[in-house]
Amino acid sequence: MHHKPVMKTPWLLLLVLAFGAFAFNAYAAGDPEAGKAKTQSCAICHGEDGNSTTPQWPKIAGQHANYLEEQLRGFRSGVRVGQVMNEMAAPLSDEDIADLAAYFSAQTPLPGETDPRLLPHGEKVYRGGIAEAEVPACMACHGPNGQGNPGSAYPLLSGQHAEYTYIALQAYADGLVEGTNSYIMTDIARRMTERDMRAVATYVAGLH
Ligand code: HEC
Ligand code: HEC
Repeated sequence: MHHKPVMKTPWLLLLVLAFGAFAFNAYAAGDPEAGKAKTQSCAICHGEDGNSTTPQWPKIAGQHANYLEEQLRGFRSGVRVGQVMNEMAAPLSDEDIADLAAYFSAQTPLPGETDPRLLPHGEKVYRGGIAEAEVPACMACHGPNGQGNPGSAYPLLSGQHAEYTYIALQAYADGLVEGTNSYIMTDIARRMTERDMRAVATYVAGLH
């Protein structure tokens, strides 16, 4: 389905005027087919289906579309700093971003690899938090299986490369992410030790 040609027909334009909000939502939701055709420049790092094979590069398969959109807009405007991604997002239009997000969110994430030695501490942090450091349980927002919640902008974590999750937590602690909802994770990550981050990262890699 392609939205653009359809939008040009006059009767639909009337509908758009009458039900503006609904039509806008449908348009903003993005077109996965159009998105697929725009992934050439992404596939080399994130994989054709969003399952990157390099642990430093995030898997984006199955991630919530609204979260992907927010991150791509953040890279484009610079509120989220990531050397490669600021360049990659610079030429993207709002429509490109919506289409790419629709495509990658519809793909299936593959499970990640875990380090058994760190799992017990990781499980404790994820499910119970760290009382003495006032770190809340990750599960409270990211869910018992790490699926997150698109309605609340809590991203999917399960199956992510442990290395990337660790990098993401470090980036929050270093203040490199300044999106609308990022202050939540900046505050949490700054209360965590290196070991807490490594352990919880390996735990979520195995969650599904
Ligand atoms: C040269 C490798 C490379 C290419 C090409 C690339 N990315 Fe990325 N991408 C990365 C890296 C590395 C990160 C992590 C950046 C960071 O955290 O600072 C990332 C992060 C992201 C994120 C955030 C994921 C998250 O979980 O927060 C999204 C979304 C994303 N990329 C989408 C894309 C899209 C869409 C394209 C194509 C238009 C693309 N990337 C091209 C390497 C790449
Ligand atoms: C109060 C809710 C809340 C809690 C508790 C929480 N998170 Fe988050 N988390 C969020 C939100 C919201 C975002 C998205 C922030 C943004 O848009 O930058 C996020 C993003 C993340 C990301 C980035 C994912 C990606 O793909 O880039 C990671 C990793 C993460 N959280 C890990 C954790 C861990 C580990 C814990 C437990 C120590 C935790 N979170 C606890 C709300 C929460």
